[in-house]
Amino acid sequence: MSKVLLDMSMSLDGFVAGPNGEDGGLHDWFFSPAGAEAVDESVRNTGAILIGRRTYDQGDRLGGFAHSPYAVEHFVLTHGAPERPARGEMRFTFVTDGIESAVERAKVAAGERNVAVGGGASIAQQCLKAGLVDEIQVHLVPALLGRGIRLFEHLGDGKIGLETTRVVDAPGVTHLMYRVVEEG
Ligand SMILES: NC(=O)c1ccc[n+]([C@@H]2O[C@H](COP(=O)([O-])OP(=O)(O)OC[C@H]3O[C@@H](n4cnc5c(N)ncnc54)[C@H](OP(=O)(O)O)[C@@H]3O)[C@@H](O)[C@H]2O)c1
Repeated sequence: MSKVLLDMSMSLDGFVAGPNGEDGGLHDWFFSPAGAEAVDESVRNTGAILIGRRTYDQGDRLGGFAHSPYAVEHFVLTHGAPERPARGEMRFTFVTDGIESAVERAKVAAGERNVAVGGGASIAQQCLKAGLVDEIQVHLVPALLGRGIRLFEHLGDGKIGLETTRVVDAPGVTHLMYRVVEEG
């Protein structure tokens, strides 16, 4: 059955990007031979991807997601669709009526496969806060960025309980998988 999986790379001190969206080396593992198994598994299991408008704009600026192996529909949460079409071959759907609607639409597109909440931080936080996430996969990168965009903040006051379901250590990254077990 389709699950909603928050799936992001994070530095040891909790950032998903530098202050101005710099990559900070957080995706080096993704493009290295050592990351191939994890990437292949993710591509096989992912039926749709949900991202925020800043992540979309950055990807579009950097070449239209041409480097991405995920040939599935990307849902972009935004207050208004861009005026010009996206660069490249990737399929994008712009959703302007909120996070629940974006997740619902992504689930329909994903079918039996997962919806990957691929960032940025704002989208991930809204999904967590609204109780829409079934699993979290953090690709923990051994670097201390010192400052930047934090993943786990603005989540409200309630505890979100997690069960560790998998830990895979690889060169330059540790893949941590959690199931969300309780909220409130
Ligand atoms: N480490 C990783 O795995 C990873 C993965 C992906 C991205 N990133 C990084 O994350 C950074 C971006 O993260 P971010 O948190 O700043 O931004 P984001 O989540 O990508 O996008 C935020 C934007 O999405 C739109 N939005 C958000 N919630 C909305 C809502 N409820 N309704 C309508 N529109 C909404 C707004 O844009 P508008 O008002 O303009 O429409 C908002 O400014 C980038 O630097 C990117 O490189 C890292």
